[in-house]
Amino acid sequence: MADYVPVENLDVVKEIVAAHKDVPGCLMGILQETQEKYGYLPLELQSTIADELQIPLTEVYGVATFYSQFTLKPKGKFKIGVCLGTACYVRGSQDILDKVNGQLGIATGETTEDGKFSVDATRCVGACGLAPVMMINEEVFGRLVPGDVADILAKY
Ligand code: FES
Repeated sequence: MADYVPVENLDVVKEIVAAHKDVPGCLMGILQETQEKYGYLPLELQSTIADELQIPLTEVYGVATFYSQFTLKPKGKFKIGVCLGTACYVRGSQDILDKVNGQLGIATGETTEDGKFSVDATRCVGACGLAPVMMINEEVFGRLVPGDVADILAKY
């Protein structure tokens, strides 16, 4: 997994803004690229983007909080995504998600305190034949039953 740029390093976000700032409607792209580099979009980065674009922070914050693809909190080293797409859902992926949350003691969208795992519900990840599906970073686990979860998590 790629290492993220630490939030203290604001040079990278400034470069991203500089590369896009002349394009109308560039804010989405800037936020996407910034999140790719830093892993999340804390207020510090948002306010740097606002300053560099000379727009109000509220505008940046509004976009960053409106779209579910953006996260304001750091994700875990291992990002768990349980698919709640239709094929997975009808095969019980909600039970898998509940099991993961229970096992880690966090709710969907949260990160464990040690920063190791974060859990999200995802849309179809294109592996419906393996439903119900869970991903951990790039690795796909399919045809799951809740009883599989503990063993899988123990490998990480
Ligand atoms: S619905 Fe889960 S992989 Fe398609």
